[in-house]
Amino acid sequence: MDLKAIDPAGLPENVELHEADLCELDLASLGGEPFDVMLSDMAPDTTGDPFGDHHRSIRLCNVLLDRVPEWLRPGGNLVMKVFEGEAYRDLLVRANGLFQKVKGFKPFTAEEVKKLRAKKLTPQQVLAERKKLGLK
Ligand SMILES: C[S@@+](CC[C@H](N)C(=O)[O-])C[C@H]1O[C@@H](n2cnc3c(N)ncnc32)[C@H](O)[C@@H]1O
Repeated sequence: MDLKAIDPAGLPENVELHEADLCELDLASLGGEPFDVMLSDMAPDTTGDPFGDHHRSIRLCNVLLDRVPEWLRPGGNLVMKVFEGEAYRDLLVRANGLFQKVKGFKPFTAEEVKKLRAKKLTPQQVLAERKKLGLK
């Protein structure tokens, strides 16, 4: 789902695309059944004002959290992108009230992934190693 048209190239046939505003969609228009996973890469268009961008990003995350009880099956998972800032901690606190376990993490940048691949490593392998070593 995106506000903008999504290029279907390379996507499997069973992927449903919705050009829509998340804030205006209800579960019925997405099939009516709760999801196993909600995965959001949503973000506001950046304006050059990091404070405002952060709060607009937090607002989108809160829209997702509003929908969790109805849209996500019990035991389901949510992964969402957020621009960090002063309201980040409150977002985690709110999420903690909805999930058994909540964890903030920073994904590898495209540049980092490139460097890992040059060493014939995948991000998944590095994360698994870090876990074994007890690192974050
Ligand atoms: C970082 S881009 C990610 C786009 C896509 N995942 C990709 O990799 O090409 C963030 C996207 O969130 C979308 N977005 C922002 N607010 C939204 C909303 N209220 N409902 C649906 N999509 C939204 C924007 O249109 C933008 O395309």
